[in-house]
Amino acid sequence: MFMAIGLLLWLLLAKGLTSEGSLGVTFSSRLVHSFSEEAKVHLASRGNGSALQSWPERNSSEYLRLLLRSDVTRQRMRLGSQYETLYPSEGGQTFSFGNVLYWLHYAWIDIGTPNVSFLVALDAGSDMLWVPCDCIECASLSAGNYNVLDRDMNLYTPSLSNTSRHLPCGHKLCGEQSSCKGPKDPCPYSVQYASDNTTSSGFLFEDKLHLASDGRHTEQNSVQASIILGCGRKQTGEYLEGASPDGVLGLGPGNISVPSLLAKAGLTQNSFSICLGENESGRIIFGDQGYVTQHSTPFLPINGEFTAYMVGAESFCVGNLCLKETRFQLLIDSGSSFTFLPNEVYQKVVLEFDKQVSATRIILSQTSWDYCYNASSQELINIPPLKLAFSRNQTLLFQNPIFTGFASPEKEYTLFCLPIAPTDYEYATIGQNYLMGYRMVFDRENLRFGWSRWNCQDKASLASPSNGGSPNPLPANQQQSVPNARAVPPAIAGHASAKPSAATAGLISKHSLVSMLLICHLWLLSCCEVYLICV
Ligand SMILES: *[C@@H]1O[C@H](CO)[C@@H](O)[C@H](O)[C@H]1NC(C)=O
Ligand SMILES: *[C@@H]1O[C@H](CO)[C@@H](O)[C@H](O)[C@H]1NC(C)=O
Ligand SMILES: *[C@@H]1O[C@H](CO)[C@@H](O)[C@H](O)[C@H]1NC(C)=O
Ligand SMILES: *[C@@H]1O[C@H](CO)[C@@H](O)[C@H](O)[C@H]1NC(C)=O
Ligand SMILES: *[C@@H]1O[C@H](CO)[C@@H](O)[C@H](O)[C@H]1NC(C)=O
Ligand SMILES: *[C@@H]1O[C@H](CO)[C@@H](O)[C@H](O)[C@H]1NC(C)=O
Ligand SMILES: *[C@@H]1O[C@H](CO)[C@@H](O)[C@H](O)[C@H]1NC(C)=O
Ligand SMILES: *[C@@H]1O[C@H](CO)[C@@H](O)[C@H](O)[C@H]1NC(C)=O
Ligand SMILES: *[C@@H]1O[C@H](CO)[C@@H](O)[C@H](O)[C@H]1NC(C)=O
Repeated sequence: MFMAIGLLLWLLLAKGLTSEGSLGVTFSSRLVHSFSEEAKVHLASRGNGSALQSWPERNSSEYLRLLLRSDVTRQRMRLGSQYETLYPSEGGQTFSFGNVLYWLHYAWIDIGTPNVSFLVALDAGSDMLWVPCDCIECASLSAGNYNVLDRDMNLYTPSLSNTSRHLPCGHKLCGEQSSCKGPKDPCPYSVQYASDNTTSSGFLFEDKLHLASDGRHTEQNSVQASIILGCGRKQTGEYLEGASPDGVLGLGPGNISVPSLLAKAGLTQNSFSICLGENESGRIIFGDQGYVTQHSTPFLPINGEFTAYMVGAESFCVGNLCLKETRFQLLIDSGSSFTFLPNEVYQKVVLEFDKQVSATRIILSQTSWDYCYNASSQELINIPPLKLAFSRNQTLLFQNPIFTGFASPEKEYTLFCLPIAPTDYEYATIGQNYLMGYRMVFDRENLRFGWSRWNCQDKASLASPSNGGSPNPLPANQQQSVPNARAVPPAIAGHASAKPSAATAGLISKHSLVSMLLICHLWLLSCCEVYLICV
């Protein structure tokens, strides 16, 4: 049916934002950098004046030098986690099926005993892992309905897994205790995503996630990790239309997310990486801290807390020109198909792009992409490279700055768009289209986002000597967690916000973050009529 209408593009955003009813995921972890202001306050409260005197000013060269020294020290110590890196037992390969599964990136994971496999969407913008289960309302899981899968997807049935247990209401990771009768009751969850009516709800379970490690002696070790997953009994909205039909693997900073639980259990470093291949095939690796030589930039706290993978760009560069006054914050979001810039930055970027590109601008009606072009295939098209500049001369070059996926009716010309849309939010969202071709490291321990070019395939490059970037955790006494953290209790965060809608997204700086999934459908009818609908 989709094909009869024409090319159907799904634009999907998954980001951590506040909305009512998403109480199940308002966990925020208390990762505090050992030289952070918070750790400083904590130390002060313990009356260690001598430590305070030697505390470096934030962002001073001394601070950076100390950071570096502590990393080196940790690499020498080589204590800590049991495994260098772990990946899902089916290999950790990720897949993108384009349109059909909404431009998201997926991986097969195995859960339970005996194990059952699920094709989950990878989402750095939310914390919860949920899979369809004991269904009241779930999407179709038959491969035949999607055309791109070689096997059916599965349901989770807790009663068939002998390692499955209800998470009790009294458990500290149960976020919706207010709707429990007693501490032994099963803990319910309900996650509301940004798209209207797009939710998953059910009960939380503990079970085993099957992982593998290449081990130090080459043979593959299998590892079973206890994780918490949502038994998604009822999905609504886009989840019934074909977006991530077999569940979502939330990779956010929250305590309930799989990377958080693996690190807490001491199985891996508190870090993971995703590589989204330019070939539709990528890789996810838990515990990966990347290369020492990778580019990196710090994660920015939101209200003093590390609740989303937010970083700060100094400038957006078009061609050789790094635009003035284009400093902005951006969310790194593997679960977003395309890229969104705050209005002011957007205006500057598109005008400069338009100035530099050598092709005729055309209007594709009703798309949120305003800068689309028609170039005859005879012309040599000059597309200016696009990159982000971060502090300390760190840059991220977008490997493929334009979108050319339109089914052009004739061969004589090419239609392409600058796949960036404006947003009223005060921060940008960098989606998977601009993250491809990099090993993206979410180093939660050192609170840094790192990146380096990688084809996502060549595993040998992971184990090469240049991979000195697997430092071990600080000794426990340096892993400060701050008392009196200003964490907003989930229930309060939920009730404080108005009705969930895209409009509440602007509240990011005022509330703690929860998952939010904004799904846009981009329909291309015939060659040049495009509709973008965000629900
Ligand atoms: C997350 O875990 C840390 C350490 O285990 C704890 O101090 C913190 O309170 C937790 N955060 C939430 C929101 O539960
Ligand atoms: C105070 O800080 C100093 C310097 O970092 C350290 O050597 C000392 O052990 C600390 N004392 C206490 C009581 O934590
Ligand atoms: C850190 O210092 C550099 C150079 O002094 C400056 O350009 C940058 O904006 C500072 N970053 C922060 C987060 O303060
Ligand atoms: C769980 O099931 C597996 C096989 O599916 C079996 O090997 C194992 O002994 C069972 N464990 C328990 C505790 O029943
Ligand atoms: C999953 O189960 C199948 C058989 O049911 C088995 O061959 C495979 O090794 C299991 N995978 C893991 C990671 O335990
Ligand atoms: C969401 O649900 C409400 C009530 O069920 C309905 O009125 C509204 O049209 C739905 N929105 C979308 C985009 O489906
Ligand atoms: C693109 O340009 C070619 C030749 O200049 C023209 O034939 C074609 O209709 C144009 N297509 C669109 C969508 O504007
Ligand atoms: C950044 O790069 C410029 C030019 O390449 C150079 O002049 C400057 O010293 C560099 N700054 C830092 C902090 O490395
Ligand atoms: C992409 O796939 C093609 C064919 O399967 C292969 O030749 C090429 O090396 C791949 N590129 C990358 C970057 O993996």
